[in-house]
Amino acid sequence: MHLPYLAGTLLAGLAQASPAEVSPRQSETMLKVDMDIRKLNQRIDGFGFSEAFQRANNIVNLPEEKRAALVDLLFNKTSGAGFTILRNGIGSSPDSSLDWMNTILPQSPGSPDAEPAYVWDGNDSGQLWVAQQAVKYGVETFYADAWSAPGFMKTNGKDSGGGYLCGSPGQKCSSGDWRQAYANYLVKLVQLYADSGVNITHLGFLNEPDMSTSYASMLMDGNQAADFIKILHPTLEKNNLSDVQIACCDATGWKAQQQITRDMVAAGAEPLLGVVTGHTYSSGISGTQPTSLRVWETECSDLKGHWSTAWDSDGGAGDGLTWAMNIYTGLTTGNVSAYLWWVGTQDPATNNNNNEKLVLVDKDTYTVSKRLWAFAQYSRTVRPGAWRLDMLNDASNLKTTAFQNKDLTMAVNIINTGASATPVVISNTLIPARSAQAWVTDNTRDMDAVEVTVNPDGTVGGLSVPARSMVSLTIELASGLL
Ligand SMILES: *[C@@H]1O[C@H](CO)[C@@H](O)[C@H](O)[C@H]1NC(C)=O
Ligand SMILES: *[C@@H]1O[C@H](CO)[C@@H](O)[C@H](O)[C@H]1NC(C)=O
Ligand SMILES: *[C@@H]1O[C@H](CO)[C@@H](O)[C@H](O)[C@H]1NC(C)=O
Ligand SMILES: *[C@@H]1O[C@H](CO)[C@@H](O)[C@H](O)[C@H]1NC(C)=O
Ligand SMILES: *[C@@H]1O[C@H](CO)[C@@H](O)[C@H](O)[C@H]1NC(C)=O
Repeated sequence: MHLPYLAGTLLAGLAQASPAEVSPRQSETMLKVDMDIRKLNQRIDGFGFSEAFQRANNIVNLPEEKRAALVDLLFNKTSGAGFTILRNGIGSSPDSSLDWMNTILPQSPGSPDAEPAYVWDGNDSGQLWVAQQAVKYGVETFYADAWSAPGFMKTNGKDSGGGYLCGSPGQKCSSGDWRQAYANYLVKLVQLYADSGVNITHLGFLNEPDMSTSYASMLMDGNQAADFIKILHPTLEKNNLSDVQIACCDATGWKAQQQITRDMVAAGAEPLLGVVTGHTYSSGISGTQPTSLRVWETECSDLKGHWSTAWDSDGGAGDGLTWAMNIYTGLTTGNVSAYLWWVGTQDPATNNNNNEKLVLVDKDTYTVSKRLWAFAQYSRTVRPGAWRLDMLNDASNLKTTAFQNKDLTMAVNIINTGASATPVVISNTLIPARSAQAWVTDNTRDMDAVEVTVNPDGTVGGLSVPARSMVSLTIELASGLL
């Protein structure tokens, strides 16, 4: 179905300072970017964040000039982070108290079969406006995800505090079976967004279903999720929305999601599911998900640290460099097709000004963390539809990934975890490079352009990856040979 855009074998090698210094030991550290038509890795959907729980209003309510600049910072692919996925929260709360996301169905229709009276405020906790700006920047992937069903559809009668969807296996309610009503409700949200110029491409009905919280939350295991998917999928089809992919289940950690994935697959839901989604709080990415579907890491952040903009404070949990490496692990070990941060913006008062945001919005101004630039290094160069290529023999101090974009450019991303600069040459045994661009992020630079040269033999060189930095390249190949 998804053929690679180009077949071939590409080699990238560590450059030696001078030919005299070449030793067999050094040539063994050659980086090989091997792109083999028979051995492709995952296709990339993109990189993103969320502005759920009214965080979107941090952007919406900035003075116009700052607001435009912040939107540009998030979505512009030549000067900003170039994010390509927005994850919206589907509101379940009766109103907008605190940071709640209000639902489009605040009143119970009385019974599951009664006509629901949807209420659309055209605001959606600020998220619609942000989504509309993203559309203007060419974002095409919108993941709408519900933290809970409205309270009257649940065993505990409220959208917070866990509880189950009435009618799910093992969960009976005197008010009846609300599964179909919940599916109809989710479809309604997709339709309201489409009417407002935003096409939801991915739809989720759970967030962290393995945990009950004081805010919107709903519990389900893999078997119950599979049961609901078997209702949601035909409901989307009936409404001519079969292009909308179901995403599940955003468990608190990678391991918790692996268990849910296993159970969903065993219950026969895999053919109806679009992508498997998981978070990395209760456990990080240490392997793949047990599915042949695409997998997204849909939420991560540094919840414990105090607000920090640092790139490299020696492995700090919120450091930009730490997150560049986490994204690398997701793309390689996790085989993920998308990597999403938690919230893009937050004010200083919320959660004691912790480090869960990329951008701190304080009254009329904002401050940007290096985590945003870690994402930018990937998101600006690895565009939706890119294929990840195999890396063989990566040097121990470098964490390198390579991709082929849909427009046939190559993206190469190199993190240098070492204490000294590492010269690299990226060579290509089949197709010479025609042009190349490179950018660096480190303590002092935010994806600043750095010089790189295309040698007469078609290799890309003249580049040294600074210590404790990340360098990304896009390489245009000589098209006459494609
Ligand atoms: C959406 O509602 C919030 C809260 O009332 C408000 O602050 C914000 O400005 C509204 N957004 C738009 C785009 O009108
Ligand atoms: C992105 O930024 C560039 C450079 O500042 C600018 O020329 C371009 O218009 C921006 N793109 C959009 C969609 O605004
Ligand atoms: C949304 O989808 C509709 C129907 O497929 C299409 O006509 C429209 O152009 C899409 N809008 C955007 C912004 O992609
Ligand atoms: C779905 O599309 C078909 C064919 O275009 C149309 O007849 C039908 O009314 C549509 N159904 C809905 C629910 O929009
Ligand atoms: C990686 O993900 C793709 C789908 O994107 C899947 O086809 C492939 O089997 C996965 N590989 C591994 C090793 O899990």
